[in-house]
Amino acid sequence: MTKIEPCTLVFFGAGGNLSRKKLIPSLFHLEMLQRLPQHLVILGCDIVEYERDAWLDGVGEILRDKHGKDIDEAALKRFCARLHYFAVPPNDDDAYARLQTLLDDDPKFPPNVVYYMAVRPADYPGIVDKLGNVGLLKENNGWRRVVIEKPFGYDLLSAQTLQASLYRHLDEPQIYRIDHYLGKGTVQNIMVFRFANLLLEPLWNNHYIDHVQITHSETLGVENRADYYEGAGALRDMVQSHLLQLLALVAMEPPVSMAAEHLRDEKVKVLKAIRPITQNSVHAHAFRGQYASGVIDGQTVPGYLEEKNVAPNSTTETYAAMKLFVDNWRWAGVPFYLRTGKRMAEGSSAVCVRFKAPPQDLLRKTRSGPPQPNWIMLGIQPDDCLRMELQVKVPGLDVQTRTISLDATYRKDGEEDFDAYEGLLLDVILGDHSLFLRIDEVEAAWRVVDPVLKVWAMERDFINTYPAGSWGPRGTYRLFDREDQFWRHSLHPDGGKLEAY
Ligand code: BG6
Repeated sequence: MTKIEPCTLVFFGAGGNLSRKKLIPSLFHLEMLQRLPQHLVILGCDIVEYERDAWLDGVGEILRDKHGKDIDEAALKRFCARLHYFAVPPNDDDAYARLQTLLDDDPKFPPNVVYYMAVRPADYPGIVDKLGNVGLLKENNGWRRVVIEKPFGYDLLSAQTLQASLYRHLDEPQIYRIDHYLGKGTVQNIMVFRFANLLLEPLWNNHYIDHVQITHSETLGVENRADYYEGAGALRDMVQSHLLQLLALVAMEPPVSMAAEHLRDEKVKVLKAIRPITQNSVHAHAFRGQYASGVIDGQTVPGYLEEKNVAPNSTTETYAAMKLFVDNWRWAGVPFYLRTGKRMAEGSSAVCVRFKAPPQDLLRKTRSGPPQPNWIMLGIQPDDCLRMELQVKVPGLDVQTRTISLDATYRKDGEEDFDAYEGLLLDVILGDHSLFLRIDEVEAAWRVVDPVLKVWAMERDFINTYPAGSWGPRGTYRLFDREDQFWRHSLHPDGGKLEAY
């Protein structure tokens, strides 16, 4: 295991959603596994004033809520010993100078520092500016790294403006643009699956693949995030970041090595090869919808317009689907269908690759029904699995065929599940950029979705709706190239095709 250097982890927005739901639990899990560096000190920063004890109580409460009475008390004690709190009230101009004194002069804080921006995107530049102005980003004595959460900007131009403001104080190697999807085990498995096996490579191209589907669906609604989500929508929230990253991993060429820059070079090449969508063709390539009231797990849930802090006439999309083409030698002519939605029938994420039909349909006379294609499917969540669908002969005197699914659930008993943030937090401390986005990747991804965002921004009078608990709005099928293509809703044979929604 690589030796981890002592470091201070400062996270801004320590009392916010991301910290409470993801960062604090992830760090604690690493503590339980004894994977945190011995000399890691965690400094939570937020606008509210807390005494250290009150902060520790708050963190203890979050963790006890999650782990219940079985909480690992020894780990909790070790974890609390690392925790400190520092208030940065919004109108207190001296707060950052005091933070500088604390971090630079108090020997309990190791001089290598990670600053994690778990705050509203609008606050990133201001905080970086203030840190820079008091010298807290200078790497005189140790390294200084900044983690920026997605979304990085809200379109290409704003991403470039944000970047320019970061570059005033930081060099590119100091910046870690996080896309937590890349921390998910199965997402990394796409690379292992492709590059540690020879079997697939000869098939992984437009000669054999009919199309690729990338889906992330959730049963949850917008929850208490409407302030952010109203201005974002599903296309920015999920497609520009997570789903385009998945596409890049599925479609990229084998990198020269697994080194961060080699990997990122290949991902950028794919994103740049995506055929630009002209404004006239937006409707042929993208579809949006918004959830109306419906039933999830037997409970009636409100529609998006009835959620707290949502404008009564909002046309923000909670569902987005896109058809993209990667115009390069390997993928010319193969559609990539991406879709995501909140309040859908199931919460699941998967990459489904459908193969073409054999060149001759030799069994057409003996088989009843149309030929069934082969599929390879990578389930990302809730179950990480790999499935392959093949045709076999039904036992008996006739030559009938049926679909079987080779199912490799590769998690063995006792193999632990990690939250995506756990590995990514360790990567930042280790200085490994492989699973973080480079600015050219972010820009290329904005170039893909920007034309759609522009057209949708002009169409503010109407949005298709879908009942909560369904598979999205009617009409998304118009994105498909042919009638025999359909959304794959499940990884089981016959994947729920031909559903009304
Ligand atoms: C986040 C989005 O990046 O990813 C959320 O902002 C979404 O809207 C979430 O729910 C999905 O990720 P996960 O890991 O919870 O499936």
